[in-house]
Amino acid sequence: MELQNVVVAGGGVLGTQIGLMCAYTGHKVTFWLRSESSIGRTTPKIEMYSDMMLKDLEAAKALISNPIGKMLYPRGMIKTWDGITAEKIDELVKVGKENLKNNIKIELDMAKAVSDADIVIESMSEDPEAKIGVYKQMKDLLPEKTILVTNSSTMLPSRFAEYTGRPEKYLSLHFANTIWKNNTAEVMGHPGTDKAIYDKVVAFAADINMVPLRLNKEQPGYILNSMLVPFLGAAQALWANEVSDPQTIDLTWRLATGAPKGPFEILDIVGLETAYNIHIMKPESKVEGSLENRICKLLKEKIDKGETGINTGKGFYDYKK
Ligand SMILES: NC(=O)c1ccc[n+]([C@@H]2O[C@H](COP(=O)([O-])OP(=O)(O)OC[C@H]3O[C@@H](n4cnc5c(N)ncnc54)[C@H](O)[C@@H]3O)[C@@H](O)[C@H]2O)c1
Repeated sequence: MELQNVVVAGGGVLGTQIGLMCAYTGHKVTFWLRSESSIGRTTPKIEMYSDMMLKDLEAAKALISNPIGKMLYPRGMIKTWDGITAEKIDELVKVGKENLKNNIKIELDMAKAVSDADIVIESMSEDPEAKIGVYKQMKDLLPEKTILVTNSSTMLPSRFAEYTGRPEKYLSLHFANTIWKNNTAEVMGHPGTDKAIYDKVVAFAADINMVPLRLNKEQPGYILNSMLVPFLGAAQALWANEVSDPQTIDLTWRLATGAPKGPFEILDIVGLETAYNIHIMKPESKVEGSLENRICKLLKEKIDKGETGINTGKGFYDYKK
């Protein structure tokens, strides 16, 4: 494991999952958070996602005899399914619990957090100004060796490279939500990214049990979101145009395609705040009465009620029942 010391900047939905995945696979993880109140929000997430990860790992025992078990097991938790046994899973649970307990710390002082970082994974809100502000602050604190990656879903690394002070060591490493099951890691450089650094990040992604997916050039939305964002946008347009309700739209998709989840079930996993941030960045969202504006208002209504998705137990569906 060449990149052993990992710093995760941002302890939200994805930042927490990424940090836990790194800790589970034996890396030393420091969450850099900006305030005491961030610690108050991130600590319960660390507990919640650790529990979910370990529960899914335990539950995989029941899949061993299942003929489609190899399609359903949590791929981030179990690197190789072939030859898996209940005893091997018990061992993974034991080591995983220890790693999750011993390999994580939280730090508010950025200089201390990054002082020996091999890699910093920036997973802060999808807000360009916030990202630039933190890159500028971090620039002179990072050791020479540190690689900096962003988990940004919608923005290109070339937009930020100049603010990092290390454009050749800066690129995107993009994860999918519930990373211990959906273990994709899209690796995307900008034109100034050093090829050797790119390869190190590919190797790191494999070390944390992800499947590295190489992009040969910059693409807004990478591979996954180039497909997913228009799909979710089309579903939200049907809702905002009052063509149908989220449950019926989901049912239509599931019945017609055999897909296990509809777009609003996926939105609950993604988190409504992230969906809102994507829509609000479009200039049309400022035009009163436009489709984007109505989608933003509908999402904001739910966010203000605390209905932000699975994360809070309620989104388009109620998960508390
Ligand atoms: N949610 C998803 O499904 C998903 C999937 C892949 C990638 N991403 C990307 O990951 C990143 C984070 O998304 P998320 O869903 O975890 O968001 P989130 O809203 O759950 O968390 C954002 C975190 O950023 C922190 N933050 C915001 N501004 C900050 C600042 N100025 N300084 C320090 N910390 C700050 C917040 O305190 C919070 O901990 C985004 O770039 C998003 O595009 C999200």
